[in-house]
Amino acid sequence: MTLQPSPSSGKTAVRPKLRVAIAGLGMGAVQIIRSMEQAPFLEVVAAADVRPQALEVFRQRYGGRTYESVDALCQDPNVDAIWIASPNSLHREHTITAARNGKHVVIEKPMAVTLPEAEAMVEAADRYGTKLLCGHTASLMAGFRAMRGVITSGELGEVRAVNVWAYTEYMFRPRMPQELVTELGGGAPYVMGPHQFDIVRLMGGGMVRSVRGMTGNWMPFRDGLGYYAAYLEFENGLPATVIHNGYGYFSTFEFVPWAGSSRFLKDGQQLRRDLRAGRPVDDAPSKEEMRFGGRNEGAMYGAPGEAEASHATGYQMDAGIVIVHCEKGDIRQGPEGLIVYDDDGVRHIAVEGIRDERMAELHELYDAIAEDRRPHHDGRWGLATLEVLLGVMQSGTERREIMMHRQCPAWE
Ligand SMILES: NC(=O)c1ccc[n+]([C@@H]2O[C@H](COP(=O)([O-])OP(=O)(O)OC[C@H]3O[C@@H](n4cnc5c(N)ncnc54)[C@H](O)[C@@H]3O)[C@@H](O)[C@H]2O)c1
Repeated sequence: MTLQPSPSSGKTAVRPKLRVAIAGLGMGAVQIIRSMEQAPFLEVVAAADVRPQALEVFRQRYGGRTYESVDALCQDPNVDAIWIASPNSLHREHTITAARNGKHVVIEKPMAVTLPEAEAMVEAADRYGTKLLCGHTASLMAGFRAMRGVITSGELGEVRAVNVWAYTEYMFRPRMPQELVTELGGGAPYVMGPHQFDIVRLMGGGMVRSVRGMTGNWMPFRDGLGYYAAYLEFENGLPATVIHNGYGYFSTFEFVPWAGSSRFLKDGQQLRRDLRAGRPVDDAPSKEEMRFGGRNEGAMYGAPGEAEASHATGYQMDAGIVIVHCEKGDIRQGPEGLIVYDDDGVRHIAVEGIRDERMAELHELYDAIAEDRRPHHDGRWGLATLEVLLGVMQSGTERREIMMHRQCPAWE
């Protein structure tokens, strides 16, 4: 199918619809499908999952074609692009199968569990001439893109340091057991790291030289990595700190009250009490209810047809507080978008453009296909971010600095 560049590129008017499919109708799929519902330039035509009940709801709601395997979905000649939202340990296999069948791919974060997996995915997209977009990171959000805009405008001079700190209830959100298993790509570094390390790399220009880090598994009765602290140094000497505490006694929302509130902080209190008391906890049924087609599907990302709450602010708080220090001023998140502090005082900047990061992602893929160019968040960008988060875990285990070898520069 031939697509037209977006109106924002100033080149076109009528836009043929991109025919998209979803591989993995779980909880993440709920978020992306909400944005797809609002996007006039695409059509949701098919889905694959191993759970027949999810496929049944998909057929009823969208009238699309359904498949019991990603392999079968990839044979569908009337699908242009696939959003892969299957479990992290299957991302490599599903992405390569899609590319081999000529499908463009948006892969959920983390793009893969290991660097060789990610490299094979990049290589497959190159070989089969398909687009690979490493999606769903907070760096796609309007607030953070606007921060990057202030940096690249040069008005505040060089970036001197970046600090990104998040406090969330990550460990107490409803989870399937495998979601906290490090070897399967579970735990905070894999799942929250892509948001934060993508933002830091975007603000700092992309080229990380080395990382030193430490991870934390603080609750033996909720086994998995719930904490990380990292010190990153860029090629040009720029320092950055990144912290994620997913143990949920309080949330970063407290520092930015205009951004909303934490959805699972209270659930965490009960879960923690149950776990400490040795009461059996099985939160898989709660997660099942929050997946696509589940009874509680709207709890995290809104009901069908509703916009997600975080779109009001232009950034979501899984990334935490982001503060950029420049030669002639500082930038941080604000109620209207950004707050800039410089020699003339303080100013609030309203964020413009697409606030929904998933919508931004849909545009990014569409335009990359229409203009036959690499998306910004392409496979190489995702690979570099994965290298950083793996480096943090390795550094924590080996208690030493880890050098980076697969970094790429950020876009302007
Ligand atoms: N949970 C969220 O809020 C969220 C948000 C955005 C992105 N994500 C990302 O989405 C991905 C999935 O996470 P999730 O939380 O939705 O998990 P999930 O377990 O709810 O969903 C995974 C889905 O994949 C299906 N699946 C499993 N094996 C499959 C196979 N072989 N073929 C086809 N389908 C298969 C499952 O049945 C399930 O419906 C992860 O990469 C995650 O990081 C999650």
